[in-house]
Amino acid sequence: METSRPRETPSLEYVFEIALREPHAVEVRRLLESCGSEFVPPLSTRTSTHQADLRGLEERDNRPGEYFSELSHQPFVLALSDGRVVAFLSFIEDYPVMRGEERLVTTYVTTICVAPERRLHGVATDLYRHLERDASSRYLSVRTWSTNAAQMTLLQSLGYRELARISDDRCEGIDTVFYLKDLSDDAR
Ligand SMILES: CC(C)(COP(=O)(O)OP(=O)(O)OC[C@H]1O[C@@H](n2cnc3c(N)ncnc32)[C@H](O)[C@@H]1OP(=O)(O)O)[C@@H](O)C(=O)NCCC(=O)NCCS
Repeated sequence: METSRPRETPSLEYVFEIALREPHAVEVRRLLESCGSEFVPPLSTRTSTHQADLRGLEERDNRPGEYFSELSHQPFVLALSDGRVVAFLSFIEDYPVMRGEERLVTTYVTTICVAPERRLHGVATDLYRHLERDASSRYLSVRTWSTNAAQMTLLQSLGYRELARISDDRCEGIDTVFYLKDLSDDAR
């Protein structure tokens, strides 16, 4: 059966890093600097990895300084090629998310990024799969913006369901979309 994914996938090593160590910290920062402007709003305008207010943020410089300093203390799943970081996913454990009146404790993915030349080879899928295998919570949560087709396709293919949406939250016409995955669904 034909799929959109190339058949040849480069072999990568996936590792968990509870606190980011050198040289991986430098490599993650470099990746964020090269991809930070793809995020909406850009990471360089943000002060936190799970910031509530994402509208009307002003560009101060082009480096994700404050964002990175918080991120670097979070746990990571890293994808390594010859020992170098080519993609990462970072998360927060025990993160509360409301489903209606119900308060769920989730593993919350704050940031995922794959180096542009490594995309469409299933690397992000593998990062999520590694997290799912080791997550301490039954639920995984993540948010994105409504024009991020890559992330939304990826989440839907992994079985995440839309939990909530805040219209025009990023700017006029761009919503914040919250996704939730119940890992016990995979076992059924
Ligand atoms: C989103 C991102 C992490 C996806 O990484 P990736 O390694 O290319 O994703 P995968 O190869 O695992 O693709 C997973 C699925 O998403 C689809 N997909 C990936 N990129 C896509 C795109 N640009 N448009 C449409 N679908 C896309 C793939 O076709 C695949 O679908 P399939 O399983 O049905 O074949 C990557 O594009 C990225 O780093 N973007 C910039 C940072 C970002 O947006 N992070 C998320 C912020 S919330």
